[in-house]
Amino acid sequence: MRIVLVGPPGAGKGTQAAFLAKNLSIPHISTGDLFRANISQQTDLGKLAKSYMDEGNLVPDEVTIAMAKDRMEQPDAVNGFLLDGFPRNVSQAEALDQALKADGVELDGVLDLEVPEDEVVKRIAGRRICRNDSSHVFHVTYSPPKKEGVCDVCDGELYQRDDDTEETVRKRLEVYHTQTEPIIDYYGAQGLVVTISALGKVDEVTKRAMDALKGQS
Ligand code: AP5
Ligand code: ZN
Repeated sequence: MRIVLVGPPGAGKGTQAAFLAKNLSIPHISTGDLFRANISQQTDLGKLAKSYMDEGNLVPDEVTIAMAKDRMEQPDAVNGFLLDGFPRNVSQAEALDQALKADGVELDGVLDLEVPEDEVVKRIAGRRICRNDSSHVFHVTYSPPKKEGVCDVCDGELYQRDDDTEETVRKRLEVYHTQTEPIIDYYGAQGLVVTISALGKVDEVTKRAMDALKGQS
């Protein structure tokens, strides 16, 4: 299956993607995670991306599209993938369509996670991520680690993202509304969008998502 996950910052895209990718046996491709890996390795791409991410702005399309395409061409993504955080505007969606068309394949669905803004802010404020593996995500009240500041899975150090400040979150939400939400209409016109509520327990949301995707396959 080829799926795009869309939703505001803090909606739970990364959290859900980890479970959905496992259930569907497809790789989870997160452009945010790819940028953060480049930042921690201090690559030129990482340095460029950081200057945009710290302000809550989108990284320029040219480098983002090239990075995403490169990842989608890896052998593990030949039969499908779950895209998280890409595409993030209509130009990226058009570039993805062109790339898929060139390969003679299509998207199966676009899963839109809906969460009220006050909940998003709470989720982001309490988020803590493992330095060893970005799929190990915790929340100080909703899913606290057994030992404060330490990852339950691998004992790695938990940290708060640089772009999780109140000011940057406000900017990221604005960018989401103005630049990313239009892709829901773009894909809606192709009959690909399924919208679900991302409120409730993580496993309840996963079940809702799996049920919604079954209708798309
Ligand atoms: P990115 O990393 O994609 O961030 P985002 O879209 O802002 O989304 P988040 O990672 O903040 O949230 P999430 O929805 O994954 O939530 P999570 O599962 O962690 O992008 C960051 C930046 O990179 C962008 O601002 C941009 O600069 C750049 N970038 C990335 N892609 C780009 C692109 N395509 N083009 C240009 N620039 C790009 O959950 C949040 C918290 O809530 C966690 O603590 C979790 O434990 C908790 N939680 C999750 N689900 C639940 C639940 N059901 N109940 C209670 N708590 C929950
Ligand atoms: Zn860990």
